[in-house]
Amino acid sequence: MNIVILAAGMGKRMHSALPKVLHPLAGKPLLSHVIDTARTLSPTRLVVVVGHGGEAVREAVGAPDVQFALQAEQLGTGHALAQALPLLDTTVPTLVLYGDVPLTRAATLRRLVDAAGRNGYGILTVTLADPTGYGRIVRDAAGEVVRIVEQKDASEEERGIAEINTGIVVTPTAPLAGWLAALKNDNAQGEYYLTDVVQAAIASGHPAVTAQPADEWETLGVNSKQQLAELERVHQRNVAAALLVAGVTLADPARIDVRGSLTCGRDVFIDVNCVFEGDVTLADGVSVGPNCVIRSASIGAGTRVDAYTHVENAAVGANAVLGPYARLRPGAQLADEVHVGNFVEVKNANIGRGSKANHLSYVGDADVGAGVNIGAGTITCNYDGANKHRTVIEDNVFVGSGTQLVAPVRVGRGVTIAAGTTVWKDVPEGTLALNEKTQFAKPGYVRPAKKKN
Ligand code: UD1
Ligand code: CA
Repeated sequence: MNIVILAAGMGKRMHSALPKVLHPLAGKPLLSHVIDTARTLSPTRLVVVVGHGGEAVREAVGAPDVQFALQAEQLGTGHALAQALPLLDTTVPTLVLYGDVPLTRAATLRRLVDAAGRNGYGILTVTLADPTGYGRIVRDAAGEVVRIVEQKDASEEERGIAEINTGIVVTPTAPLAGWLAALKNDNAQGEYYLTDVVQAAIASGHPAVTAQPADEWETLGVNSKQQLAELERVHQRNVAAALLVAGVTLADPARIDVRGSLTCGRDVFIDVNCVFEGDVTLADGVSVGPNCVIRSASIGAGTRVDAYTHVENAAVGANAVLGPYARLRPGAQLADEVHVGNFVEVKNANIGRGSKANHLSYVGDADVGAGVNIGAGTITCNYDGANKHRTVIEDNVFVGSGTQLVAPVRVGRGVTIAAGTTVWKDVPEGTLALNEKTQFAKPGYVRPAKKKN
């Protein structure tokens, strides 16, 4: 089967410089949702019709299996489909989707395609409480589809029809060129309507059949920021429902946002207002506190992520404890049982099993062994103003509070670093590192007094 996605409309009502179909839903362009759904149907040709912002659209969704057709002027949905004709295989049917209708289920499309078979003209329809604005499905006394009439061209009686055209159709491809070429634009909008093709199909012996989606939201399109926000909620509700079905505990299914894929093991708990982006994996028994942001990361079994923790491009082992207010930046690799506490930032660093950095520290460009204790306020000074350097802290080191480690530097196994030390050269294994400092006690010191004005 061929699939053509119409995406040339400009989306005036979005009031945005970004082409409408590139506005993100769940972190992904609307059009990418449609392309991903299309792919699950294994089309032999996949064509996107672009117009407004065509270059940006190509750049955003370009892939080896996607071809583009340009509709330079938006003369209507029939004209749009005609632009794709040279790229289609005429021996198989063509399914037409819209780039701004992101949530149609593949199973629904499959049903439509199956209903039409090789020869039928299939229309995805839905019956709405308020059909205003949509094309109406006109049927004869026997209930057979006769034609589709647009709102603007409909009679009073036709406007009373509640069954509407979602716009999604499947058509035999060989006769399509003739049907499209014969379209006229003598209608209220002066456009070449794809909806008029159904009459030509019926006239030449291709039965018009219909199929319906399981849910109304599958056919909703995005024309405004309001509709975009509504569909975002629909999608997030669906994602939350799927997580609940899979056994994940959500403190509130209305307060989780997944902008990518979230894979959870058994007995995972997620508190309110968490955002998951990219591919995130939470293993068995992971608990995530409120207001966490976790992007492209894997969290090991039994690990607790406390409130307000941010994780990005990081991997965390089992039974670790993060936060509250921890920040794992790209390249943070934490082994099992690591504790990273409040206001601790870890970047491009490996931290070995059971090591702890519980308070107010920066561990960047570092290799930290197992069983290391990093005291409060420890800083790896990784940047010399031009280049980044690594800090190596071997197993069982005790780093006293307020230590600076000036990279590149290596601290040997079992070393103890006294509080407040500036470690600027390598420390041999098993030693105590400290800076000689003097402390004075000045008697009779008088504090400056605040000036009166
Ligand atoms: C269309 C249908 C209408 C249906 C409705 C469902 C026609 C004539 N009417 O109306 O029966 O109820 O969708 O939402 O088909 N597009 C192009 N090039 C164009 C015109 C449109 O690529 O020249 C694309 C748009 O980007 C959009 C889709 O086609 O993705 C639908 O266009 P739109 O103008 O929104 O269609 P409606 O007038 O709402
Ligand atoms: Ca229109």
